[in-house]
Amino acid sequence: MSLFLDCVKGLQVERPPVWFMRQAGRYLSDYRETRARAGSFLNLCYNSDLATEVTIQPIEKFGFDAAILFADILLILDALGVNVRFVEGQGPLIEPVKEKKDIERINNVHAIHEKLFPVYETVRKIKKELPTNVPLIGFAGAPWTLATYLINGKGEQGSLTAKKFLIENNRDFEKIIKLLTEATIEYLIMQIKAGADVIKIFDSWAGALNADMVLRYSLRPIKRIVIEIKKQFPKIPFIVFPRSVNTIYSNFCDEDCFDVLAVDQFLDRKWIANEIQPNKIIQGNLDPIFLTQKKKILIQELKKVTQDFKKRPYIFNLGHGITPDAKVENVELVVNYIKGLKF
Ligand code: CP3
Repeated sequence: MSLFLDCVKGLQVERPPVWFMRQAGRYLSDYRETRARAGSFLNLCYNSDLATEVTIQPIEKFGFDAAILFADILLILDALGVNVRFVEGQGPLIEPVKEKKDIERINNVHAIHEKLFPVYETVRKIKKELPTNVPLIGFAGAPWTLATYLINGKGEQGSLTAKKFLIENNRDFEKIIKLLTEATIEYLIMQIKAGADVIKIFDSWAGALNADMVLRYSLRPIKRIVIEIKKQFPKIPFIVFPRSVNTIYSNFCDEDCFDVLAVDQFLDRKWIANEIQPNKIIQGNLDPIFLTQKKKILIQELKKVTQDFKKRPYIFNLGHGITPDAKVENVELVVNYIKGLKF
């Protein structure tokens, strides 16, 4: 029995389940210690013993209701043969795809598993170690977000380089989206076979697209991934996170195959209450900045968020990943606060 799985499957639960994006991360001294032992961020991702260790750390320390596989959305690009590096203080750097011949150099989709095998091992190891009532969330980046890193070569505010490529080299862009979609389907199927209970798809840069583009290049490929996988694994629930897409968020909520919609901190909760069907399961919304603040301010915000979501199925989470400057005692406070709620 798992409160989180019950909620994700649409059953009535006594309180919202709680977990955090990036719950294994630099705000935790245990994580920093394991990461130092790994040597680098990528080594940590590809070392299944250490990746299992950091996945479990926040579960044991805080009692979150779900674990999320420790990996990164960019590993699949690495596995496709694009050189991915994480540079201290700069974030990810990728050899950018600029023209057709760069696309031709990308590996065959089926070749990804050799490099990603340690990730599947991590899933198997985590499943052995987790308490049976704590499910494991597997994940992937959405094709558009992966394409932005592939084309921009890094995280870029507004993703203008990728957006220009989308307009100016549309046929090549569509090829890239197709390739990333197929690779993601294969990647997620392997995570499910290894034991992932739920899948989350992160479209972190969806907000850089205009409304038409969001439907075509964010929603559509995600839907294809979900439908393809559900043909084989109809019981696996999907959490979809189209970050910062504004009111077009309602189009994602209209898709029945998306079991849970994750929401950032920018969408107005009153708008959600008025516009989104009351049985849709929503996850997220607390602005991660409140985890850096005084207890009193954090509690005020917790009250607002939980009150506003009281009338619908809801999974407590942040609007984006937890930041390295979050206070550990605030994370503890949030988990205890949510566990004390009666919905
Ligand atoms: O949520 C979790 O706890 C699971 C693990 C996870 C990580 N990254 C670990 C990580 C997940 C699900 C991700 C997803 C991810 N990675 C996304 C989508 C979600 C989002 O944040 O929008 C994106 C865009 C990435 C790409 C990425 N990885 C960036 C931009 C960075 C650098 C930014 C930073 O915080 O330094 C990373 C590195 C990264 N991925 C860290 C962690 C814990 C920090 C690396 C470190 O230890 O130095």
